[in-house]
Amino acid sequence: MEIAVIGTGYVGLVTGVCFALLGHRIICIDRDVDKIDELAAGRITIYEPGLEEELQRQQEERRLFFTTSMTAVSCADIVILAVGTPQKADGESDLTDLEAAVRSMAIYLSGHTYIMTKSTVPVGTNEQIEKWIKATTNEAFDVVSVPEFMREGSALSDTLKPERVIIGARNAHASEAIAALHRPLTEQVVETDYRTAEMIKYASNAFLATKISFINEMANICDKVGADVVTVAQGMGMDRRIGSSFLEAGIGYGGSCFPKDTHALLQIAGDVDYDFKLLKAVIEVNKDQRRHIRKVLLQELESLSGKFIAVWGASFKPNTDDVRHSPVLDIVRHLLKEGASVRMSDPAAELNFRRSLDHPLISWHTDPLEAAQGADAVCLLTDWPQFLSIDLHKLKAVMTTPILFDGRNAIKQEQLVDTGIRYVGIGRPG
Ligand code: UGA
Repeated sequence: MEIAVIGTGYVGLVTGVCFALLGHRIICIDRDVDKIDELAAGRITIYEPGLEEELQRQQEERRLFFTTSMTAVSCADIVILAVGTPQKADGESDLTDLEAAVRSMAIYLSGHTYIMTKSTVPVGTNEQIEKWIKATTNEAFDVVSVPEFMREGSALSDTLKPERVIIGARNAHASEAIAALHRPLTEQVVETDYRTAEMIKYASNAFLATKISFINEMANICDKVGADVVTVAQGMGMDRRIGSSFLEAGIGYGGSCFPKDTHALLQIAGDVDYDFKLLKAVIEVNKDQRRHIRKVLLQELESLSGKFIAVWGASFKPNTDDVRHSPVLDIVRHLLKEGASVRMSDPAAELNFRRSLDHPLISWHTDPLEAAQGADAVCLLTDWPQFLSIDLHKLKAVMTTPILFDGRNAIKQEQLVDTGIRYVGIGRPG
């Protein structure tokens, strides 16, 4: 198949590389000239394990190409829409870029084409996409909604071995064609209509966010009653109806998806006059969870003014350089506001973090132990494996006050034995 992918962000790039790997001929289109130049030269602009190597391999096999020109659409059997739908100030998804991409793509449609929407879009958008295309061309087409479920950091394996593929279509013919395209990846296909497919995406992310906020509230109660939330989660997760994943208490969820999609779903509910109380609480709990660490540090150190706080981790989770809605941004802002100096270390996200937040009282250190030098507390905020293997005896030796705040409950209790470190987890007895 000839496939054109519009948008070379996370979703577009990974989708393009994976379909090339399945033997299709892919042309990725983006309006960003610099990005396309980099990608055409085999360099990726995001941090994603394995992606650059696979991209280069597919380029060598001459199955993957990059361009800024929409004319490439004219040869495509399938056009994949993977344009960003960022969050507006009121929480609503901003469809400006998507509409512009659809309208300019439609000019070049030639012969029957499947238009596969991968961008996360509010309910009703796929119908709207049909209208935008019809306003531009008389060529035959079918719009198909195929929401994306890949995670950053494991994007390639998630795309090549998806747990399910959701296909929202207007007719059985279009649905079957797109199901056949995905059959080499999985047999787990749900075929449905546009609106249900759009809702499955939001419902999935909102439910995962709910699990996280639930376990974070449990952690806060565990702190008060002297129970261990890690074991509580383990015990709960053994019940298959509950499941053990996404029950890790911590500093709250971040990233480009959960915060945006929960707000967008709230907006969708509001538009039909539905008061989604549970989702509101999930968002509120997540906001509060970012303030938890400030409370803990104030309890431990009395005041943060003039104190040195080491922060390990900047990205919203390990294996990515993405800091979008990273809880670390809010936490560091709180620390600075209290008058602390912040000594930071992250294996990949320094540059992106500095673009979002730079301050004379923040210093950066490649070596996490150097960041901890003279610190009054170390806060482990992103559980990169590099941080988890640090010798805690050495850590204690370099710190002024040996307090370790583990915002991810990632340090094993046995690592702490005889270190003399005062350990504070989330919902774990000290
Ligand atoms: C999420 C979903 O997991 C994907 O299925 C979805 O495709 C994607 O959003 C999207 O909509 O595009 P992602 O944002 O890459 O993927 O990251 P996750 O691994 O889901 O983590 C999200 C946040 O939740 C992170 O900040 C993570 O630290 C936090 N989290 C996760 C917890 O605090 N506790 C947990 O138990 C799990």
